[in-house]
Amino acid sequence: MIVARTRVELERGLAEARQGGTFLGLVPTMGFLHEGHLSLVDVAGELARSVAVSIFVNPLQFGPSEDLESYPRDEERDLAALEARGAHLVFAPSAEEMYPAGGTGVTVSPGPLEDRLCGAFRPGHFRGVLTVVAKLFGLFRPDVAVFGRKDFQQAVLIRNMAEELDMGVRVVTAPIVRETDGLALSSRNAYLSDQQRREAVGLHAALRAAAALYEQGERSVPDLLGEARRVLGLHPLLEPQYLEVVDPATLDSVEVAAPGNVIAGAAFCGRTRLIDNLELS
Ligand code: PAJ
Repeated sequence: MIVARTRVELERGLAEARQGGTFLGLVPTMGFLHEGHLSLVDVAGELARSVAVSIFVNPLQFGPSEDLESYPRDEERDLAALEARGAHLVFAPSAEEMYPAGGTGVTVSPGPLEDRLCGAFRPGHFRGVLTVVAKLFGLFRPDVAVFGRKDFQQAVLIRNMAEELDMGVRVVTAPIVRETDGLALSSRNAYLSDQQRREAVGLHAALRAAAALYEQGERSVPDLLGEARRVLGLHPLLEPQYLEVVDPATLDSVEVAAPGNVIAGAAFCGRTRLIDNLELS
């Protein structure tokens, strides 16, 4: 596995990884890897001959009161996990390497879906995400890029960006990997105390309860969300931020649920922000 830290090293690594015109898959991450990230490496490996992974905690996507400084990092463990999983190339640049001028003058505007769901509570976040992902697409020029459905709005916005700006990369999304109790894996789960960890599953339990009601035939979104809120209420450490049923293409809230709609939610557990979503089927 090649580990590149500079653009020059990345160019060299890409020349090797792409030998013979090999199809390249990219998995962008912010590190502190868990089985969710590694499942994306597996998916990329099924779709492409060479798999590249980026590890970069992107300052542009953190708000001023968010956890940029404390974001968990363990590069040694990440590299060992990626090598064991068969990744071919890892790009782990410094912030200076990524943003030599301290940031970018040009940013990618996510368009009208920016302010929905998480975007309503994290101003500028998705602009930061799309800007770094556009840079990574430019640096790697991948054929396919794999993102997790856990960050549902992020995946939608990245796919829209790649399509509408003709970036020439196929954006693929992969299922959410969960703990046995249903909590979606997240690097930020490392912040949770034992008690918070036990309560954190309440967000998934709430979405599941609404989905179960949907499966029994209930289509009224206020009733589905009422059920989700009832279950969230059983977990006093969780402070809900939003709960919505949306159309996955427009991210518009719906009043009457239909197959393919997504129930999505965010909640704080102490200072840790949890997100999750489920497709209604
Ligand atoms: P990060 O949070 O490290 O996540 C990297 C990728 O892993 C994202 O596509 C995310 O959706 C996926 N992922 C995280 N947890 C997952 C889980 N439990 N199951 C499946 N996939 C999961 O998302 C980012 O980094 C950044 O915003 C990034 C796209 C790298 C841009 O900086």
